[in-house]
Amino acid sequence: MRLIIEPHYEQLSQWAANYVASKIQKAQPSEVKPFVLGLPTGSSPLGMYRNLIELHKQGKVSFRHVITFNMDEYVGLPQDHPESYHSFMWNNFFYHVDIPQEHVHILNGNAANPEQECAEYEAAMKAVGGVDLFVGGIGPDGHIAFNEPGSSLASRTRVKTLTTDTILANARFFGNDVNKVPKTALTVGVGTVLDAAEVLILVNGHNKARALQQVVEGAVSQMWTITALQLHPKGIIVADEAACAELKVGTYLYFKDIEKEHLFPDSLLK
Ligand code: GLP
Repeated sequence: MRLIIEPHYEQLSQWAANYVASKIQKAQPSEVKPFVLGLPTGSSPLGMYRNLIELHKQGKVSFRHVITFNMDEYVGLPQDHPESYHSFMWNNFFYHVDIPQEHVHILNGNAANPEQECAEYEAAMKAVGGVDLFVGGIGPDGHIAFNEPGSSLASRTRVKTLTTDTILANARFFGNDVNKVPKTALTVGVGTVLDAAEVLILVNGHNKARALQQVVEGAVSQMWTITALQLHPKGIIVADEAACAELKVGTYLYFKDIEKEHLFPDSLLK
């Protein structure tokens, strides 16, 4: 697993955007061989989306032949609710790039049969040859997508009940009213994310420091579902300094040392 440490959120976001764009560039996607990208919501990826939009405007990346699968969606929120993950993705990213609407996949949190919706989502990923790069964030308790503590590390796309911690954390998007936060969500499983050819996780801010410590220094555990990244052959974490607060000095210096040669964001792109 690689751990890239950038000074601040801005550099982390730029690095992530350049990394994603460079992967798309290198794959030279086409109609017959599209690039399949897994995407997260939340505040962590906002900077990456802003930078990707900028790279698109500069003509450095096109999403014409990119197919996306989002990680999760609340159950029961109307799709056009301002806090639905559908609204989030279209407003913060898809409306601003050249991705064809039919290439976008987001779980339908209002499906009449949620189990079927989840099974079809998994099948749709398989049908396009699997995910090339899954980008994600994590919750302060180390959850990935909505795979809350205790989720099976082999889990697939399914309905999940949100923990009180997550509901409290997300209340800020619902006028700080916990009663307005949906209590369940549809989410890809940990196993679904691990099936991707590559996984890139964005971790910023001091409130993620304990989760980062677990995934970098801790053992694989269902209580911190992001730790499953240790089992992935190509896992990358890009973190800011603030998120490193709980790492041992030795661990921090070790990754700084082995990644000192890592390509800086600008050189990732042609
Ligand atoms: C929610 C999402 C996760 C996200 C997490 C952290 O729980 N389901 O995918 O990683 O929030 O969000 P933020 O990036 O806002 O800290």
